[in-house]
Amino acid sequence: MDTVENAVHYVFLGAAACFVLGLRLMNHPRTARRGNTLSAAAMTVAIGATVWLVAHQGLITRTGWTVLITGGLVGASLGLWSARSVRMTAMPQLVSLFNAVGGGAAALIAVSDVLQAEDAALLGARVSLPAALDIVIGAVTFSGSLVAAGKLQGLVSGAPVVFPGARLLNALLPASFVAGTVWLVLAPDSRTALFGLVAVALLFGVTMVLPIGGADMPVVIALLNAFTGSAVAMAGFVLNETALIIAGMLVSSSGGILTKLMADAMNRSLIGIVVGGFGTADNGPAAAGTGGPAHVRSVGADDVAIQLAYARKVIFVPGYGLAAAQAQHELGDLAQLLTDHGVDVSYAVHPVAGRMPGHMNVLLAEANVPYTQLKEMDDVNPEFPQADVALVIGANDVTNPLARKSGNAISGMPILDVDRARSVVVVKRSMGHGYAGVDNELYTDPKTGMFFADAKQGLSDLKAAVGEFVG
Ligand code: TAP
Repeated sequence: MDTVENAVHYVFLGAAACFVLGLRLMNHPRTARRGNTLSAAAMTVAIGATVWLVAHQGLITRTGWTVLITGGLVGASLGLWSARSVRMTAMPQLVSLFNAVGGGAAALIAVSDVLQAEDAALLGARVSLPAALDIVIGAVTFSGSLVAAGKLQGLVSGAPVVFPGARLLNALLPASFVAGTVWLVLAPDSRTALFGLVAVALLFGVTMVLPIGGADMPVVIALLNAFTGSAVAMAGFVLNETALIIAGMLVSSSGGILTKLMADAMNRSLIGIVVGGFGTADNGPAAAGTGGPAHVRSVGADDVAIQLAYARKVIFVPGYGLAAAQAQHELGDLAQLLTDHGVDVSYAVHPVAGRMPGHMNVLLAEANVPYTQLKEMDDVNPEFPQADVALVIGANDVTNPLARKSGNAISGMPILDVDRARSVVVVKRSMGHGYAGVDNELYTDPKTGMFFADAKQGLSDLKAAVGEFVG
């Protein structure tokens, strides 16, 4: 190894240390931005070092440089533009598209490596095995993430799409991966094995994600994110690139942990994800029927203001509607007004409230809500019986007591025990459904008042009404 190669390996080591530190900093909203910047800077340095190394080794032709520079500029500009312009509520679709691009690129690296090998038949298992795994995981991630993005964007039905034999197919396709991988390792020059593996993996990505619907999408997005990391790590083994292996494994393991946390939050099994259709629990909206007409009590800003001003303890429950209306600042202002008036205020944050992991925490951090007031589901649930008012803002599925019953799309999903508060106020525009498409029994509970309004307008009306009352 010459001096440049040595130096580049030290750069990779430093970058790896920064990735780990960056992940550590992302553990807390206050330091997350710094963690992101540190990891991105380390990745930029690692890419620069890789380019330096291949230039030093004279591995790139003139055409290669043109493709590398053009691709880098186009990719970086598109990435920067989409990340800066995306609406917060459309972030899961963007993450899904990024997963698709990452998985697809990793799979193409393996395909190209096998195709370009001078004598593919002589490729050892050290290259052909990671190449096969890279193709399987990368291609599954590519097609699965595209379907997931389509579902989130409303281009593909968000409801579970099930066809006869889907479960059997989802069990058989992974078995064919094993056969295809063994074939490719034994005969790396077989084009049938190579392209056959690509085809079944692409098919499985589609059949795996199509039957998943409603409230279960967060788990599958986290899982596909972990897959992207594994595919990138395998590409690192194929190319013998330390930085890719480390970065890929970090994404894979952190994505795996996130998947487990999300699956636990939804009370779903991970095996269920792979065999497919775990989100298809029976029917959807029809299962929500409470049997018979139910009474809805509508309330106005002044009624709610009196309740809030007289309360000793208020728990806010933010959901997707708060994000859609960008009403986090109005909520923060109302909470501050009540805190100044001596009310004990806290925010109940469900792990899948909104449309992406940590969605509510990010929004509330934007509104400078004190971290001490944010409470996770397990910590806040025992507090609901002592709350005088639970004020739900644009949250629906994560508060639906129907989840405690069997036979519906959200059965078994842990919820915020809002219905156990002394009184409940829900701010939303209509009796419309949430993401899972089921009726919410909370809205017809006699102790619930429905304040029909857009979250932003409704919260500023409430702030004005409370202000008049306490001022
Ligand atoms: P949802 O159940 O989706 O309900 C959101 C509610 O917000 C709707 O019922 C809607 O009612 C209301 N809303 C929409 N725009 C509004 C506005 N401008 N002002 C006031 N209200 C508005 O939200 P949730 O309780 O946060 O649950 C999240 C759901 O999304 C779960 O099913 C979860 O599994 C799923 N999901 C989560 C993620 C992650 S990772 N968090 C990712 C994908 C999917 P109106 O139309 O009547 O106003």
